[in-house]
Amino acid sequence: MAIFICGMCGHIEFGTAPDTCPVCMSPREKYAQNDRVFIESEEKSKEAAIKHIPSVTISKECKLIPELSCVDIIVRIGKALHPMEAAHFIRFIDCYVDDVYVSRVTLTPAVYAGACFHLKTKGTTVKIVENCTLHGYWQMEGQI
Ligand SMILES: [Fe+2]
Repeated sequence: MAIFICGMCGHIEFGTAPDTCPVCMSPREKYAQNDRVFIESEEKSKEAAIKHIPSVTISKECKLIPELSCVDIIVRIGKALHPMEAAHFIRFIDCYVDDVYVSRVTLTPAVYAGACFHLKTKGTTVKIVENCTLHGYWQMEGQI
């Protein structure tokens, strides 16, 4: 699938570039196509996968919003937890349902490399994309 990256905020769109970036509102012209962006990260640092591939737990029993049908997408970056230091950290974690962007969590070195998305969107697949300041883009996809 074609991969388009926003040159302003780093957001990725799958399939086609949007008219307006859903994260930073930049126009389509700021997007550049790079279908190999995830492959490039893997090729650059093969040993980095264990600290970068998102690991996802899906919970259908939400403790934050129990009164509504909420699906929790609980994300941790790396089977071996990714470091969060000034010179090397996870900048953001983006969540997609059926390849449509739904939400971003922006991180700083003050927090651990993880996030939780409380989905109200119904769908079949969830995709998580993360960006590391040193090691680029990594993703995972699973069934909801
Ligand atoms: Fe990293």
